[in-house]
Order: sequence, then C-alpha cells, then structure tokens
Amino acid sequence: MTPTIKELLNTPHGREVVVKGWVRTKRGNKNVAFIALNDGSTINNIQIVADPSAFDEEILKKITTGACIRVTGDLVESQGSGQAVEVQAKEIEIYGEADPEKYPLQKKGHTMEYLRTIAHLRPRTNTFGAVLRIRNAMAFAIHKYFNEHGFVYLNTPLITESDCEGAGEMFQVTTLDLENLPRTESGAIDYSEDFFGKQTSLTVSGQLEGELGAMALGKIYTFGPTFRAENSNTPRHLAEFWMIEPEMAFYDVQDNMDLAEDFIKTLVRYALENCADDLAFLNKMIDPELISRLEGVVKTDFVRLTYTEGMKILMESGEKFEFPVYWGVDLQSEHERYLVEKYFKKPVILTDYPKDIKAFYMKQNEDGKTVRGMDVLFPKIGEIIGGSERESDYGKLMTRINELGMSTTNLEWYLDTRRYGSCPHSGFGLGFERLLLFVTGMANIRDVIPFPRTPKNAEF
Ligand code: 4AD
Ligand code: MG
Repeated sequence: MTPTIKELLNTPHGREVVVKGWVRTKRGNKNVAFIALNDGSTINNIQIVADPSAFDEEILKKITTGACIRVTGDLVESQGSGQAVEVQAKEIEIYGEADPEKYPLQKKGHTMEYLRTIAHLRPRTNTFGAVLRIRNAMAFAIHKYFNEHGFVYLNTPLITESDCEGAGEMFQVTTLDLENLPRTESGAIDYSEDFFGKQTSLTVSGQLEGELGAMALGKIYTFGPTFRAENSNTPRHLAEFWMIEPEMAFYDVQDNMDLAEDFIKTLVRYALENCADDLAFLNKMIDPELISRLEGVVKTDFVRLTYTEGMKILMESGEKFEFPVYWGVDLQSEHERYLVEKYFKKPVILTDYPKDIKAFYMKQNEDGKTVRGMDVLFPKIGEIIGGSERESDYGKLMTRINELGMSTTNLEWYLDTRRYGSCPHSGFGLGFERLLLFVTGMANIRDVIPFPRTPKNAEF
C-alpha cells in the first residue's frame, strides 16, 4: 500500500517513496518545476521537485491543475520554506489528464454557489476537503461517544407509515403507476395495491422506533438519514439530512439536558483535538472567529431557561424582529440567535415550550399548557438539538393524541410501550449538518454535506 501524503509528511526523510495524488498547482522555470500534490488525506500538499531536463516534455505538459499523477522519488529535507520535506522526482506517470481549457476547478476564488453546481468535483478543493474530513471525524466521534457511554446503536427504518413529528412533511414512497392509479369503490387511491399494501413515506425521525429500543435495551442511539419535504429554502434546512437520536430509559428532562450538553461539548473538543489542520485552514479562509467560538463552547456552561422566561426577554428586548414575539408563538431563528448571541452570549437550552407548538409525544407539565421539551440553541445556528422527556402515561398520551385528532391505527405498536412496562424516558435529535455548520464555520448547510438535497435540487 502506498502511504498517504499525510503519512509521508510525518515520516523521516532520506528514502525513496511513491506518491499518488491530484495536482493542485505547478510552477517553476526552465531549470526546475514545483508541483503541489494532494491526495485528500490532509489539507497539506506535498511538494514535488522535478528537473525538467530529466523528463519527457510531453509528460511535463500534462502535469496541470487537476491531473492525477504517480511520482517515484526521494523524500528529502526541503530546501525551500513552507514544508519540512519534499520529493525529488525520479519518475512521473500520468494517471489522468485534466485539460486546462476545460477543468472547472482552476486555482482558486470560486464562489460557494458555483461550487455547488460542480458538487462532483468540489471535494477536491481545500475547503471541501477540510469539511468532508471533519464530517468524517465527527461521525466517528459520535459513535465513539455512545460506545463509551453504554449506548446501543439501533438502526430504525427509513420507510415508515408513521409521521413522528406530525408536521405532515413526508416524502411518499410508492410503486403505484402515477399515470393510472388504482381506485377503491369510493374513488380513493387504493393503497392495498401499493408495494407495502399501505401508504408509506420516508422517515422524518427514528424516534418512535428508538423509544421501543430504549424500553428494551436501556440506552440506544440512531444515526441515519432523515427526510423532510418542508419547503424551507434557508441556509439551515435540507430535505435530506442526517440525524443522531439518542433515547434513554429512566432519564428525565434534566438528565437529557446534561447528556446533550456533555455530548456536544465532547464532539467539539474532539474536533479541536483531532482536526487541527483543517480547522486552522477554515479559521483562516472562512471564519476568523471559528476556533475561538469552538473553544468558548467547550468551556462555558450552557444557560438553561424556560420558554416563558426566554419569551419575556425577547418581548422586553426592544429589538425589531421580522417575526412577532408573544407567548405561544414558535421561535424563529432570529429569536433564538438573539438569546444566544446578543443576550447571553453562550449556548442556551430552552425548556417547557407551549404544548401546541410541539409534537404529541412530549411529557405534559402540571400547568396543562406546557410540555417538557428542550431545544439546544447555538451561536450562528439557532436550534441545533430538539428533544424532550416523553409522555410515559398511557392515559395522558391518548388524551393528547385525541386532542390533535391523530389516528392511532398506525400507532398501536408505539402505544404498547405505554401499555406494557412503561417508564420515564427521554431523548433528543441532533442535526448532523447543523453540528457541522457550527464546527466548520461554513455559512450554508448545503456546503457541509457532499450532495445536498433541497427544494428543486436533487442533482448528482
Ligand atoms: O426538532 P426536530 O424536528 O426533532 C425531532 O425530529 C425529534 N424526533 C428528535 C428527538 O427527540 N429524537 O429535529 C431534531 C434536529 C433539529 O434540532 C435540527 O438540528 C435537525 O434535527 N433538523 C434539520 N437539519 C437540517 N435540515 C432540516 N430540515 C432539519 N430539520 C431538523
Ligand atoms: Mg425542533
């Protein structure tokens, strides 16, 4: 196996090596050529030094930005500044050319919008390389955290018949012929003819099945794709995103908040400790406050306050918000960011929301008006985590389900957890791409997932 550039840059010099990668730049003169080569293993390039007289002119001409090459040479101490080692090339093989007239990624300065149109090539840029390596590191850190804390990784279905959040924002899954739909006698679509014999959709959350897991295994988490057909064209919404959903038996909402805070701090700390090169790059090129913001979150205690207290602060703030603030209204990102960025200047966990703006499964408070929900609000992001203690009482849950006019035909299996051995339990959902927005400092959620899906956009 050929060592990666990351490995080579950290190994002692004075021996022959083989390097493979994509050319970032080539510069030089008649006497010497410098090739910056990158293989994606690190943000750092390795410098290849070639004596033009030692190589076929045709080969040198093909070494252009974007071309893929294989170099055999000596790893030596670098004569120039900027790198510790470099490769004195002895042999160069061209794996794949990249026509300089056509290759869409010329040196630098492309806008994020343009790069989205070439999402198949943008991982070759420094910025997307850094983002995707951090995405990988965060996925690993998440599994590591749960593994070290006694959670069982549970895979919940992607195709489902239940709408966990009750917002009706589901993508339907069907194999029916849309040009020629089967009808029942009353004229309705006959889903008994559909693939699953019923109407199904892509999941908006694995929580309901996660709750079943928690009430058998104690502590579980899911980590998978989630789909929402909400027509939200914002820098924080995707139609397909990844969510991490821990669910814990015997946790009340306080335990839930403690876990959420520790979890997210551990992840940010992991990034600071393990992604230093990529973070330094993003701090320099994308967001000069990135690293200090990450360090800040790791150090501070999150503020905890109720929705009612938060609403009071907003109403008395004197700020001109685009959306009005009054008790009972759902918070917009501008409100969340006011509390976090201007008022407290640290992350906030907001609890005890009005029941009418939250999902049916949240534990009801004694006041009859609020539920034991908890949202974690972050600087630059707004809501990064949404969760709650769950209503574990069968009677109260049924009352709420009936109030909302929900059908229980598809939910009998869920209600069984409240019928048999019900227990206090809690959980939350962390949006993976929202976490990545925070950790990378990128401004748009479309730029922290390899191939974003948003309204009117499903290319690649
Ligand atoms: O607040 P949400 O809708 O909560 C749930 O789905 C619960 N079932 C979670 C649970 O308690 N197990 O979504 C949770 C998180 C949000 O806080 C946000 O970070 C992210 O998922 N999220 C989105 N991320 C990107 N694009 C979207 N359209 C998102 N919708 C939610
Ligand atoms: Mg939410």
